[in-house]
Amino acid sequence: MERKPRIGIMTGGGDCPGLNAAIRACGKTAMRAGYDVIGIHNGWQGLLEHDDELLDGIRTSGIIDRGGTILGTSRVSPLRVENGVQRVLDRIHVLRLESIVVLGGEGSLSLGYKMFQKGIPIIGIPKTIDNDVVETDFSIGFQTAVQTATEALDKLRSTAESHHRVMLLEVMGRNTGWIATYAGLANGADEILIPEIPLTEQRLDDLCERLKKRRNMGIKFSIIVVAEGTQILGKPIIQEDHGTHADTTAPRLGGVAQVLGEIIEKKTDLETRVSTLGYIQRGGSPVAYDRTLATAFGVRATTLLQEKKYGEMTALKGTRIVSVPLEKIVDKVKTVNLRTYSVAKRFFAQ
Ligand code: F6P
Repeated sequence: MERKPRIGIMTGGGDCPGLNAAIRACGKTAMRAGYDVIGIHNGWQGLLEHDDELLDGIRTSGIIDRGGTILGTSRVSPLRVENGVQRVLDRIHVLRLESIVVLGGEGSLSLGYKMFQKGIPIIGIPKTIDNDVVETDFSIGFQTAVQTATEALDKLRSTAESHHRVMLLEVMGRNTGWIATYAGLANGADEILIPEIPLTEQRLDDLCERLKKRRNMGIKFSIIVVAEGTQILGKPIIQEDHGTHADTTAPRLGGVAQVLGEIIEKKTDLETRVSTLGYIQRGGSPVAYDRTLATAFGVRATTLLQEKKYGEMTALKGTRIVSVPLEKIVDKVKTVNLRTYSVAKRFFAQ
């Protein structure tokens, strides 16, 4: 009997809503195109540890709305494991994989490109709540994180209003302020602090003056969104200095809103409270936008593997699904579109 060609699919780096929708789309279309599809567990770790499964129609059904990833994920990089690349190549040979579809963020896709350079046929699909992958307008998971953050801000507004408080919400985003900007805009926040715009002493003083002025005008509450990567006077707040981010040693961020809240309370004498949204942004069912984007990316990835266009990544440009060379995204970070930020800024406390 003739053996079917085989492809692998894996999810690497931090999880996000919409991964299962992409696994379903790519898995089902590849199966219908005549491939056997191997689900590799926990990113590259699955190839190092021989942890995988043969996916079928049942396993990939009924998961379009499910958060997380049925395949599991990790930030393990074969480049940081002794003999890692050779072990991966050996496993790919044993599994007879023609190519591997990698669902990853900036770190995992950069790693994917480095593995491609070592002879592994890779196709990338961008996913990250941070939306910081260059060459694509949006990545899978971002819109759901924005929705979650917006709902949290809406809830905080009602309690801020009741208690006449300044309310800060810290959101994720690593070194970019995409979630903060979009959620802040959608909520009508009174200030959005992002890593892309340095928080100088003067800017901090100016913010405090505007908060006091707003109070004097009779508006007794304020909402401030703080991206976790915001630096206070040029310094980020780091929780852990030796992160395990894929193929990097990126530090774990967090805590900047707490520090800022204390400064703001001291400088303004306004009662201030701080919340941190944390991993809630990574969980839950994907919104419709992420499901459709994930499905379109998954279908395109199957076309790319049929055309053997390895070393490419699916991308969204305007309303078009295209593919771009992974080489273009390596070790780059897409910072916030400042035109969008300036729209949100028009509604800041004045
Ligand atoms: O990249 C996604 C992300 O959630 C970032 O927003 C956050 O800084 C980081 O991952 C947290 O990483 P970990 O899951 O390793 O704690």
